[in-house]
Amino acid sequence: MPSIFITASGTDVGKTFVAAGLIRYLRKQGEPIDAVKPIISGFDPARAGESDSGVLLRALGLPLTEEEIEDISPWRFAAPFSPDMAARHEGKEVDFDQLVSFCETAIKEADGSVLVEGVGGVMVPLDQDSTVLDWITELELPVLLVAGSYLGSISHTLTAAEVLDQEECDLRAIVVSESEGSHVPFYETVATIARFLPAIEVIALPRLAAGEEHPAFEQIAKSCGLV
Ligand SMILES: Nc1ncnc2c1ncn2[C@@H]1O[C@H](COP(=O)(O)OP(=O)(O)OP(=O)(O)O)[C@@H](O)[C@H]1O
Ligand SMILES: [Mg+2]
Repeated sequence: MPSIFITASGTDVGKTFVAAGLIRYLRKQGEPIDAVKPIISGFDPARAGESDSGVLLRALGLPLTEEEIEDISPWRFAAPFSPDMAARHEGKEVDFDQLVSFCETAIKEADGSVLVEGVGGVMVPLDQDSTVLDWITELELPVLLVAGSYLGSISHTLTAAEVLDQEECDLRAIVVSESEGSHVPFYETVATIARFLPAIEVIALPRLAAGEEHPAFEQIAKSCGLV
């Protein structure tokens, strides 16, 4: 089973939500699954349970301890900025080579697949000169692209898909996770993205309650080769 890199058309569109749903679905099928969210900005230890690391640990059935958080999210920054900026505000820097080897080790040591959640969108800077796209190409993982359905998302999503294609990334599927409060017709947005990317599976994920099951998670797992 392959490991998967989960990236997005932008920040706050549903990478963690999709990852957690996928983890719950796979665990229910008895599939071994692990996840890392190596870089997290806007991290507040007092509200760790609500952070991406907390959401992923809960889905994985792991306790919310400092050790577990450190294990899946070693680069944590307080400021809710892009990683290069958030790190700089603490006098730190993300070491790109260490980031790549952290992921490679997590994948090597896992019993099954590992979901690697990126940070923000495809072109987010990680340090002085590397972006999430460099991280994806360095790891050579199949990619799941999560998009929103807000006004503007079609262009953001097609742009992200185009850039991934230029770098010959193995884009397995696009999940359009319905944006809260958007007045743009959701299923028309999904159909439009699919029309412009006929070779890619485009999966609709409507608004769900936290932890709710949905057939889209099985579809995502299948298109990523996880089941
Ligand atoms: N389909 C959905 N149904 C219900 N809530 C959703 C859905 N998609 C996303 N959300 C919610 O929207 C918010 C943002 O989603 P999420 O945290 O998964 O985004 P993200 O892409 O991981 O963001 P970041 O760039 O910060 O990692 C969360 O509160 C999440 O629970
Ligand atoms: Mg997230």
